[in-house]
Amino acid sequence: MFPRAPDLVNQMAAEKGYKVVGVESNDAAMATGKGRIEKSVGMLLGKAVKKGTMTKDAADASQAATLANLSFSTDQGALEGCDLVVEAIIEDINVKVRSPG
Ligand SMILES: NC(=O)c1ccc[n+]([C@@H]2O[C@H](COP(=O)([O-])OP(=O)(O)OC[C@H]3O[C@@H](n4cnc5c(N)ncnc54)[C@H](O)[C@@H]3O)[C@@H](O)[C@H]2O)c1
Repeated sequence: MFPRAPDLVNQMAAEKGYKVVGVESNDAAMATGKGRIEKSVGMLLGKAVKKGTMTKDAADASQAATLANLSFSTDQGALEGCDLVVEAIIEDINVKVRSPG
């Protein structure tokens, strides 16, 4: 499965300790993004544990911290107060011009 740009951006920022709000157009897209990020974070940390570069406890703590930094909404109002907004919507000009990014 090819990663979606918004999921990559959200995951990397959350891993670096930033509070991230992922805004999607509907509940299904929101569930897809959340699920993909949870799976990806777990997979990366699982690999680190397997390779012996991280303990299981440290991986569990890191996963919990990353996921705690993430929240999702279908309401663009959730972006209010954000310091930075990254637009990563499908390559469709009619959709992009309506986005807040
Ligand atoms: N995927 C990559 O590796 C990658 C790399 C560089 C740049 N980009 C850029 O990132 C952007 C997104 O690419 P992608 O491959 O992740 O696209 P994608 O098709 O996987 O979708 C990206 C996002 O757009 C949302 N979306 C779809 N239809 C929508 C609609 N009608 N209204 C509002 N939101 C809608 C999806 O829910 C998803 O969150 C594009 O501009 C692309 O050029 C992607």
